[in-house]
Amino acid sequence: MTFWHDRWKNQLTRWHRAEYNDLMVKHWHSLNAPDGSEVLVPLCGKSLDMLWLAEQGYSIVGLEMVEQAIHTFFNENQLSPESTQFGKLVKHSSPPFTIFQGDVFALEAGTVQADAWYDRAAMVAIPPSTRESYVQQIRQQTKPGAVGLLITLTYPQHEGDGPPFSLTDEDAFSLFSEGFEIERLEVIDVSDEKDRGVSSVTSSVFKITRL
Ligand SMILES: C[S@@+](CC[C@H](N)C(=O)[O-])C[C@H]1O[C@@H](n2cnc3c(N)ncnc32)[C@H](O)[C@@H]1O
Repeated sequence: MTFWHDRWKNQLTRWHRAEYNDLMVKHWHSLNAPDGSEVLVPLCGKSLDMLWLAEQGYSIVGLEMVEQAIHTFFNENQLSPESTQFGKLVKHSSPPFTIFQGDVFALEAGTVQADAWYDRAAMVAIPPSTRESYVQQIRQQTKPGAVGLLITLTYPQHEGDGPPFSLTDEDAFSLFSEGFEIERLEVIDVSDEKDRGVSSVTSSVFKITRL
């Protein structure tokens, strides 16, 4: 059993929020994602943010490796998905939601052709050594011109262990330096994260465009 399966099994899902993410609500529309288009939500968990995006008229494609998270998302929202084997993954669909169950790195290139993506608590959840592969996956699962909203967390990494792992603004600019344009929209102090025992935590919001 992986760390993440264990987290879900024992309901240690502290990252989950019972409200829409306010930074997403504030900044999403500045991306100008095409109306009615497809939004990729990597490492989606059972995030309510998928509901908000659906309410804006988008189709949602989530990626999540823990079956329990996916079932909980559909159950809690009174949705009954159809589930089919899809290569090494399982595809769960209840329009406008599709969630691929499996490792984000196992999704074959081009399976999703998203017009936009939304990353909250996703890129900071994976080991830093896999970030370049993750960016490659974003590139492979989106269309040229796709726009993304990335919300990070930054704290002195030596003061605490991940996940979430600290991702600095410099990391974000560097990881998205080739084949993307990246702009920081906002940085905020996240005081409610300080109970992790670290001296400072900030969250940055980036608008990213795939060239
Ligand atoms: C910190 S949670 C964030 C969930 C969601 N983005 C949110 O804001 O509530 C990270 C999620 O990613 C999933 N996950 C971790 N590594 C993964 C991987 N390699 N492939 C797919 N899902 C993964 C975990 O099961 C967990 O549900």
